[in-house]
Amino acid sequence: MPRAIKLAPSILTADFARIGEQVQEAEAAGADYIHVDVMDGQFVPNITLGPLVVSAIHKATRLPLDVHLMILEPERQLEAFADAGASILTVHAEATRHLHRAVQMARRTGARAGVAINPATPAVMLDDILADVDLALVMSVNPGWGGQDFLHVVLHKLRQVRKMLDERTLPAELEVDGGLNLETAPLVVEAGATVVVAGSAIYNDRETVGSACGRMLQVIRGAQRAD
Ligand code: DX5
Ligand code: ZN
Repeated sequence: MPRAIKLAPSILTADFARIGEQVQEAEAAGADYIHVDVMDGQFVPNITLGPLVVSAIHKATRLPLDVHLMILEPERQLEAFADAGASILTVHAEATRHLHRAVQMARRTGARAGVAINPATPAVMLDDILADVDLALVMSVNPGWGGQDFLHVVLHKLRQVRKMLDERTLPAELEVDGGLNLETAPLVVEAGATVVVAGSAIYNDRETVGSACGRMLQVIRGAQRAD
């Protein structure tokens, strides 16, 4: 059975003065999730947004909000983001001393729980948590900004995580984030990703959000593995 590949536009490079319309354009074009990048200026150098903005986005769309927490000690903020309307709460393995506890706490809010790993973090870090998460996120850039180049070195790790999930028939979604465009997105789908995050490939000044989503959906659905 071919997997259904999902598209999660990241609003990091969207026009924040028109954020409601920008997510509605992605929704109308067939996106599956809205990916929301939360940065705290500590785990990553950049600072973005908090629960207030998540709540405003939640009011503007019916799409599930896939909230990527690039923050230290995410345990302290899980409930606030869940209350703001997050459907998926993804914490970084590198950002907490107690990953298992953080995942349990995320689940207890009623949201789905995800775990992310940075490009230099090996796949084995996911081994003992994969059965407890709804989503594993393999970063294909160092988190912090949109518009960076895809790190091809992560393709090998992606295949490893795909194998770990398949061998144990675990249902977690496998998401990839960073540098994905019409050229690189098919590579991650072929390597076993089921959720493609795309920021600057969707929100840019070259084309409309609708046409960018349409082209990306066509490419990732055409590229899916047939196993
Ligand atoms: C990077 C963020 C990404 C980013 C992706 O720190 O986690 O979600 O917005 O942007 P692109 O697709 O432009 O690399
Ligand atoms: Zn992200």
